[in-house]
Amino acid sequence: MSPDTVLDELVSAAQSSFAAARSPADLENAKAQFLGKAGRVTELMKGLAALSVEDKKTRGAAINQTKQAIEAALTARRQALAQAELDAQLKAEALDVSLPGRQRSTGGLHPVSLTLERIEAIFGSMGFDVAQGPEIETDWFNFTALNTPEDHPARSMHDTFYVEGGTEAAPNLLRTHTSPMQIRYAVQHVKKHRAMLDRGELMPEIRVIAPGRTYRVDSDATHSPMFHQCEGLWIGENVSFKDLKVVFTDFCRTFFETKDLVLRFRPSFFPFTEPSAEIDIQFQQGPLAGRWLEVAGSGQVHPNVVRHMGLDPEKYIGFAFGMGPDRLTMLRYGVNDLRLFFDGDLRFLSQFN
Ligand code: DAH
Repeated sequence: MSPDTVLDELVSAAQSSFAAARSPADLENAKAQFLGKAGRVTELMKGLAALSVEDKKTRGAAINQTKQAIEAALTARRQALAQAELDAQLKAEALDVSLPGRQRSTGGLHPVSLTLERIEAIFGSMGFDVAQGPEIETDWFNFTALNTPEDHPARSMHDTFYVEGGTEAAPNLLRTHTSPMQIRYAVQHVKKHRAMLDRGELMPEIRVIAPGRTYRVDSDATHSPMFHQCEGLWIGENVSFKDLKVVFTDFCRTFFETKDLVLRFRPSFFPFTEPSAEIDIQFQQGPLAGRWLEVAGSGQVHPNVVRHMGLDPEKYIGFAFGMGPDRLTMLRYGVNDLRLFFDGDLRFLSQFN
């Protein structure tokens, strides 16, 4: 075999060895076999020492060419491996731009929350404050302070959810109405204006609504054990039934967005008001036209209740009302089963947004 054939074979051996390398690490190992300190090209170089000056020149040049050819093959393979790696990465991280986008659906408010927001906005525009109170109440705020006698049927276990945490003499319960907020709010208001009252001055009027959840042992198409109420209270020096009528009529007409709406105050009884009235409304147009629909209880705040607020009933007088936002929502949207509101079915709930 001529020396040149040996060199040519060395180049092709290097080429196929590099081609067999599947990774950059493999390739570096293959490189060492040819170009490393103990590699085959290096061995050839060492062999030059034994040659004459003339032969060294030609043989040296030939070996150099071989070395360059192997280095070129190495560089080409390095680039090919790097390109393959990049291609694989691009493929793995590819975006399919033809896929439909992932939708982020927007949430919406519950229909009863929408009603509560409307109630707050309307009464807010009439100068009413909005107050929140506890759902676990004491028997004092829920009944006693509201002039409800010991033997009143509402206090029975059949009607009221009693809960742990109180004593036998002062039990805790889930509030059966928002009326305890009349006392809680008024007591705070009186405390805030104590100095004025002590000087015999007239305190600013109490004008507040208190929306929230309430609980009773009751369940059918028109009753849920949890339901909503919104209390209203207006106490001042000279607040009368006439004011109640104006305020509530205004509220109903704004809430239902119609002037064609008539109110009726039907005599009733509540322990915490005297006189008391049930408020009915009648639409003059639309699917409910002509029917009387009960929307609230109301009345002039009983002197005993005014006393429990820390005020003198000879000086302060006013009215209160309690309405049902669930029922207002049913009337406004024409929903006929209260339970739909609390089943949590999105097909129903999403229609309101
Ligand atoms: N608390 C009463 C109920 O739950 C409703 C009510 C009636 C509230 C008359 C009042 C009122 O403030 O004056 O049935």
